[in-house]
Amino acid sequence: MSEDLLARINKAQLPKHIAIIMDGNGRWAEEKGQDRLYGHFHGVESVRNIVEGAAELGIGYLTLYAFSTENWDRPENEVQGLMALLVDTIRKEVPVLNKNNIRLHVIGDLNMLPDYARQELQEALDMTAANTGLNLIMALSYSSRWELVNAVKNIGLDVKAGKINPESISQETLQQYLSTSQFPDPELMIRTSGEYRISNFLLYQLAYAELYFTDTRWPDFRKENLYEAIVNYQSRQRRFGKTGHQIQEETELAS
Ligand code: IPE
Ligand code: IPE
Ligand code: MG
Repeated sequence: MSEDLLARINKAQLPKHIAIIMDGNGRWAEEKGQDRLYGHFHGVESVRNIVEGAAELGIGYLTLYAFSTENWDRPENEVQGLMALLVDTIRKEVPVLNKNNIRLHVIGDLNMLPDYARQELQEALDMTAANTGLNLIMALSYSSRWELVNAVKNIGLDVKAGKINPESISQETLQQYLSTSQFPDPELMIRTSGEYRISNFLLYQLAYAELYFTDTRWPDFRKENLYEAIVNYQSRQRRFGKTGHQIQEETELAS
């Protein structure tokens, strides 16, 4: 089944950047009569599997939404347990990341994190900095509105310091002030667990992304589910505001 799906993926037209809202851990655990943290714990298995799958396919960038700024408002034991699990896992996975040439990045408001967590993350970032394969971007304490406010603030400061001329501010300028400035925009955004919303994730960057929603809860999500999403993505015509005929002509000219 998984091999069939894999064979249906057109390797020449892979999305360069896939972004995933990893949702449904809590409900997955509750449905099994377990504590929500049990779900987060099993969600880590899915992260390993999907990171491996993306690297094998040759995807350039994979962004995983692991913790939102709004998630800080959850009950304290869940926040602490989840944060410890995330930071511990990232730290422990460094040898595997290095073995697979995966470079780790983190986006989000890291000032909200406890000191130990920030230090461990920094070490993991430094230890994978030379890798040239998959770029794995963990969105941790991230929200798009936080990111946009931060960007506007920094643009304001640079205008004040005379580093940029406000008249010359363009989409490229704004893009350079986002925490994703080094990455291309995602072409494909996946959300698991049957919720049809963006929940403050990459609002600017997802402007033209194809959105893929699945009922599968994150702890059950595996490589074959990723392949399925990519096959579905490749069946769509991306028009960017043009007509279908224009796109068809352009593809014919290019081939
Ligand atoms: C996703 O699962 C992980 C985080 C948001 C941190 P949830 O914890 O949101 O699980 P549900 O949506 O409550 O099932
Ligand atoms: C989005 O999931 C954030 C992450 C997956 C990290 P949530 O579970 O927090 O989103 P809502 O509250 O259902 O919108
Ligand atoms: Mg959720």
